[in-house]
Amino acid sequence: MAFDLEHIPSQAGKTAIVTGANTGLGYETVINLAKKNCKVIMACRHPDRAEHAKADIEAKVPGANLEILLIDLSDLSSVRAFAQAFRQQYDRLDLLINNAGIMWPPYALTVDGFESQMGTNYLGHFLLTMLLLDLMPDTPESRVVSLSSNAHKLGSGAINFDDLHSEQNYSKTGAYAQSKLACLMFGNELQRWLANAGKQIRSITAHPGVSNTELARHMPQYQIDLIQYTIGPLLCHPPAQAAMPIVMAALDPEAQGGEYFGPQGFLEMKGQPGRATQSDYAQNQAAAEHLWDVSEQLTESTFALPQTQAVTTP
Ligand SMILES: NC(=O)c1ccc[n+]([C@@H]2O[C@H](COP(=O)([O-])OP(=O)(O)OC[C@H]3O[C@@H](n4cnc5c(N)ncnc54)[C@H](OP(=O)(O)O)[C@@H]3O)[C@@H](O)[C@H]2O)c1
Repeated sequence: MAFDLEHIPSQAGKTAIVTGANTGLGYETVINLAKKNCKVIMACRHPDRAEHAKADIEAKVPGANLEILLIDLSDLSSVRAFAQAFRQQYDRLDLLINNAGIMWPPYALTVDGFESQMGTNYLGHFLLTMLLLDLMPDTPESRVVSLSSNAHKLGSGAINFDDLHSEQNYSKTGAYAQSKLACLMFGNELQRWLANAGKQIRSITAHPGVSNTELARHMPQYQIDLIQYTIGPLLCHPPAQAAMPIVMAALDPEAQGGEYFGPQGFLEMKGQPGRATQSDYAQNQAAAEHLWDVSEQLTESTFALPQTQAVTTP
């Protein structure tokens, strides 16, 4: 299945939220959605960076319909305030792109006491989704897109429920891997959950492969330079291309709920977007259900969509 953005029809009338929209893959995703006439809410944490990116995109995409709404995903009260502000202005949401992320920071806790990568990359987005899902029209064109990474296969490869916030032992790479595994498992579980509620809304996951964005901001500059001037060109692709699995998940009419998209090249590091591979653990339904329960408790959120049809399971 080759994804060709040229053949995607206008998305006029649709409203999208893209978190982390001011740089990197979020920025490129906004450009593509704006080109397709989608209204895009740029969900960002720094007003100046957001304004700068918005002006930049408006210059590149004349007529782009963009709005900035501030959110700090590392603070659940900010996530709640964002959702409330959105609901005051809009009565529908077509695309929720859970893109924002951080990688390999020194150990820190979020405002709510979560390890910062788990809190920002996963739990903030979990709550955001719970707070907005009921605004999505019940159609296959309504999409929640969750960002994972090849890193979900690294580290222990499993969610460490006994030390979710790395209080006993912090590995910055392990905690990033775990947060991205959680995003993928959430996307899968959300799709099962939607299907069980008889909903057509699709939960789809994506990863960009490897791309030289500001995600590496916590790496020493010499390491970034070393990679950039040696193996980088062989392994990385530019953000505009790396964003395409996200755009595919959001807009491809053939994309099914529960699918995972990523680049098709060597080890899924670069290349054209298509179906990607998940670790066995990522597809473990019991673990995903447990993660969901824990996430509801941690974010003090619980949500039930009204069922539209009874679904029987054997
Ligand atoms: N680049 C890669 O090779 C790669 C590989 C696999 C997966 N990914 C995933 O792709 C997604 C996008 O990453 P990227 O490469 O585009 O990174 P990036 O260039 O660093 O962009 C990350 C975005 O997230 C925002 N953000 C960070 N913390 C936030 C918070 N607490 N609240 C709200 N927004 C916050 C950043 O805002 P500020 O600019 O204000 O900091 C920025 O807009 C991430 O989920 C990442 O895990 C990337």
